[in-house]
Amino acid sequence: MIVEIKDLVKYYGDFKALDHFNLEVKDGEILGLLGPNGSGKTTTINCLLALLTHEEGTIKIFGKDMTASSYDIKKDIGVVMQNVAVFEELTVFQNVDYFCGLYISDRKQCQQYVEEALTFVGLNDYKKKYPKELSGGLLRRLNIACGIAHKPKLIILDEPTVAVDPQSRNHILENIQELNKKGATIVYTTHYMEEVEQLCDRIIIMDSGKEIASGTKEVLKNSIQVKEKIKFEMDALEDDVLVYIKGHKDVNDASFKNQLLEIEVTKNNGLLLELLSYFKENKIDFNKVYSETPTLNDVFLEITGKELRD
Ligand SMILES: Nc1ncnc2c1ncn2[C@@H]1O[C@H](COP(=O)(O)OP(=O)(O)OP(=O)(O)O)[C@@H](O)[C@H]1O
Ligand SMILES: [Mg+2]
Repeated sequence: MIVEIKDLVKYYGDFKALDHFNLEVKDGEILGLLGPNGSGKTTTINCLLALLTHEEGTIKIFGKDMTASSYDIKKDIGVVMQNVAVFEELTVFQNVDYFCGLYISDRKQCQQYVEEALTFVGLNDYKKKYPKELSGGLLRRLNIACGIAHKPKLIILDEPTVAVDPQSRNHILENIQELNKKGATIVYTTHYMEEVEQLCDRIIIMDSGKEIASGTKEVLKNSIQVKEKIKFEMDALEDDVLVYIKGHKDVNDASFKNQLLEIEVTKNNGLLLELLSYFKENKIDFNKVYSETPTLNDVFLEITGKELRD
């Protein structure tokens, strides 16, 4: 096990930010920590890195107890913080060189690693620029280069794509997959469900400092009642038809709003075909029909009663 957090409790004053939180990260996986704003993702990362103290629980990294002075552990960790942390007075190259130099004492080796990191994040043409000359997306890439240049075994990224344009975002996600292929274990926090779905082998969904569900995206989506949503775009719908649909044994709920009939289906067994023939028989017109599988937001919604993003 690369990371093992057990029963972590963290208070800020009277406020309980982490409530017996558990986290295990296996060698070679990309673990996604998904939760809404304020759910405790950054607090978890900061406790994991021993940047914050905690009240209860244990934290092990690479099988050893993590403490503020565990420098042997820290040298094998790369961190990309939620808030970009670079030196304004240093160039792009100098920034990466500084962070890499904290871990790599051989100058030649260090400079080679810096070159590799800059090529990797696509900042080769910006080596001599200063951070204030970079766009938001490029600045994020610099932040990442600073965190990973020393080739750490464990890489922790806290919402690295926030406020980033789509192109840089894809670049960042591809970079992370590439690092993982080269052997790094990854912990990735985000409140974007699309990102964890695309990237992560396993996902832990957290809310209010607690784990509310975990597993692969398939397992998570299968764990909820609603397995499919069928949507009909139609100009009008008689009330009795809606009542009929709502009463169907495979329907969790149905609604008709803004010319959209939305049906939550609890079984994936051909209700759509049944409805199509029912509509035909009863001469019910519609413009368009489509079926959607659940998203991780649906998982979050079914467990907590609220949206992942508000
Ligand atoms: N230094 C602090 N003092 C007091 N409360 C804090 C402090 N840092 C965080 N909190 C509170 O702890 C809770 C968890 O915050 P945290 O930053 O870990 O959430 P997060 O999941 O990272 O959110 P976001 O997606 O917005 O980054 C929030 O309610 C936050 O207001
Ligand atoms: Mg955060």
